[in-house]
Amino acid sequence: MKITISALKADIGSIGGHIIPSQALLSEVKNKVQELGKELIIDFYISHTGDDIAILCTHERGVSDEKIHKLAWDVFLAGTEVAKKQGLYGAGQDLLKDAFSGNIKGMGPAVAEMEFEERPNEPFVFFAADKTDPGAYNLPFYLGFADPMYCAGLILSPKMADGFIFRIIDVENTEKDKIVDLNSPEDIYDIAALLRDNERYVIESIYSRASGSQALSISTTRLHNIAGKYTGKDDPIALVRVQGEFPATGEVLAPFEIGHFVAGFMRGSHIGPLMPCKLNSPISYFDGPPIVTGAAFCIKDGKLTEPADVFDHPFWDHVRMQISEKATAIRRQGFSGAAMLPYSELEYGGIVERLEKLEKKFKLV
Ligand code: F6R
Ligand code: MG
Ligand code: MG
Repeated sequence: MKITISALKADIGSIGGHIIPSQALLSEVKNKVQELGKELIIDFYISHTGDDIAILCTHERGVSDEKIHKLAWDVFLAGTEVAKKQGLYGAGQDLLKDAFSGNIKGMGPAVAEMEFEERPNEPFVFFAADKTDPGAYNLPFYLGFADPMYCAGLILSPKMADGFIFRIIDVENTEKDKIVDLNSPEDIYDIAALLRDNERYVIESIYSRASGSQALSISTTRLHNIAGKYTGKDDPIALVRVQGEFPATGEVLAPFEIGHFVAGFMRGSHIGPLMPCKLNSPISYFDGPPIVTGAAFCIKDGKLTEPADVFDHPFWDHVRMQISEKATAIRRQGFSGAAMLPYSELEYGGIVERLEKLEKKFKLV
């Protein structure tokens, strides 16, 4: 059976700042998906990561389906009404356009979708990150799919011996999708040369070279490129099929132990370590740290099991402690050097105006 998994995510308001959506908002989203999705979707799961709400749904309509995207748009609009009524902070924050125009991509919400022939056992993981941008996934998924130091299956499993195709997108090109397909292992130096730059080149999808099947899909929208100004960080989501011809769940999770430094954190303008957190975690220290959650599922004929929380394990408690130390270490240097993003990536216009004023005060002597 050919199945599509669609994940659509938006920040439409939260309690106490950019922390966590309210229960009323989550209930409204759930009820609306149930009501509007009756004829369209097979199953769904609603969750939040920090201040973002995600709709994960299964259906048979393919990717970029207008009705599925319209459903999500209408649900986010209905949720925004509740957020406004409750006086939630940033109500409707990610809904950047006034009218729906066929596809929710480019309108603010993040989208990751995959259509595939369902395997007899079909496990996958839904990742959602908050207070960071799509490049945050570059390193973990490069390591999970191309490096035998993390993905033992690349040398141990004949099903993965041929490697994977990385589709990488240049997110600065907003007119059209500008993409390149590179093969691992032959092209790993090229892949690394691009993925080094998390703010410009981002993994969009990954495919098995043996079967051609899609393994991964990431939302690649950069909000500041759409809106031309700060409207919030992109907070990317990802769908990853695991096991068999794809890396095992544990191989995909392994690189998240690094807690690598990513862009985001306070005001989307800093560098902080990416912390793997339990499902439905809030945001806290310095509007962060940047977090990622993972919900693993199996599907049968499009029906979802309950989620397994991949970062809810004593091992990850230890990792979280170590990553907290990395977060405080970089925070101690405040605005200085590597702790804050370069000028081009600063999400607030204030500093630009300040520097322009200061430029006029400089004298050539
Ligand atoms: C980062 C984020 C927060 C806000 C910060 C200020 O993605 O959402 O760090 O940037 O709390 O928010 P405003 O400008 O809404 O007062
Ligand atoms: Mg917010
Ligand atoms: Mg967010």
